[in-house]
Amino acid sequence: MKIIIATGNKDKVREINELLEGTGFEARSMKEAGISCDIVEDADSFKGNALIKARTVAQFTDDYVLADDSGICIDALDGAPGIYSSRFCGEKSSYEEKFRKIFEMLKDVPEEKRTAHFTCAIAVVKPDKTEFTVEEYFNGVLHEKPSGVNGFGYDPIFYVPEYGMTSAEMSPELKNSMSHRGKALRKAVELILESC
Ligand code: IMP
Repeated sequence: MKIIIATGNKDKVREINELLEGTGFEARSMKEAGISCDIVEDADSFKGNALIKARTVAQFTDDYVLADDSGICIDALDGAPGIYSSRFCGEKSSYEEKFRKIFEMLKDVPEEKRTAHFTCAIAVVKPDKTEFTVEEYFNGVLHEKPSGVNGFGYDPIFYVPEYGMTSAEMSPELKNSMSHRGKALRKAVELILESC
């Protein structure tokens, strides 16, 4: 069965397909499903934005639609950049620039207070147009020196003390086993399977 993923981000569709292996579901991007539409993410929460994306795409298909909204929340910055993670420092800034800005903002924050978590909210609109949301978290500490080449976005500075490495140094399987998106997606798939 198909699940249309309400995103233009190929990395996300790939990560989601890795997690869906063996479930009988296959993730397709909007492009693969021939859907093109403008989505205005203007809610003030991860769940709100995920619902906007899923509802917008569900207007164009009767397949399952799954949308996620995610970001990194830094405790010493009162949860920023949060829902603005991809736009932090300006839409066009590179991740190196985002990292530099974060390190600058955290320069007086002691090591033990450099805690952060990734949040992932997932919204699903089912073929009968009923919907649900789930939200999960991935805890870590901000690492001053970017390290690792796997993953994407903030992974090189997201250090997971239990494993002694950043999430960019983890294999995709290891990251998926504990990540915000991995946990949220597994829960969402469980709920989809229960309902069909
Ligand atoms: P979204 O596409 O609006 O959900 O944007 C999420 C943004 O949060 C991404 O572009 C990244 O900057 C950041 N982000 C979310 N999840 C991850 C992750 O697993 N690793 C690294 N960065 C992430």
